[in-house]
Amino acid sequence: MKAAGVLALIGCLVTSTESKVYTRCKLAKIFSRAGLDNYAGFSLGNWICMAYYESGYNTTAQTTLDDGSVDYGIFQINSFTWCRYEKVQEKNHCHVACSALITDDLTDAIICAKKIIKETQGMNYWQRWKKHCEGRDLSEWKKGCEVS
Ligand SMILES: *[C@@H]1O[C@H](CO)[C@@H](O)[C@H](O)[C@H]1NC(C)=O
Repeated sequence: MKAAGVLALIGCLVTSTESKVYTRCKLAKIFSRAGLDNYAGFSLGNWICMAYYESGYNTTAQTTLDDGSVDYGIFQINSFTWCRYEKVQEKNHCHVACSALITDDLTDAIICAKKIIKETQGMNYWQRWKKHCEGRDLSEWKKGCEVS
């Protein structure tokens, strides 16, 4: 009885730390520190806008596509080309486990996003960015946030 209670409590703690939805400004700060502002010419607003439309800032967001591949994390990075899903060795261009792209620590996701930008030449990879963010005034996205 007692052990079950403790286990249930641990279960709650684990699940509550696993799913994290960042606030816009917290994300702006993390992105800025990671050098995303103007990375490959894309201002901070592009990144915040893209993450919003791709994942709603939810680090654990996962979407299974029709072809069976899965989009992972805050940037919805796809398993077919960019990360390693379980034992299946696919292209894995980012040399990272897909599970590393759905943690609170955004380091791996950011490194992978930078790689996508370089390899695909721009942010066109993110279709929701194209639809909702490209070519717009994105200064509002970092408004009120303490970023330089
Ligand atoms: C974040 O994404 C996970 C996985 O899709 C989902 O279970 C969770 O409810 C989402 N959190 C929020 C606050 O939307």
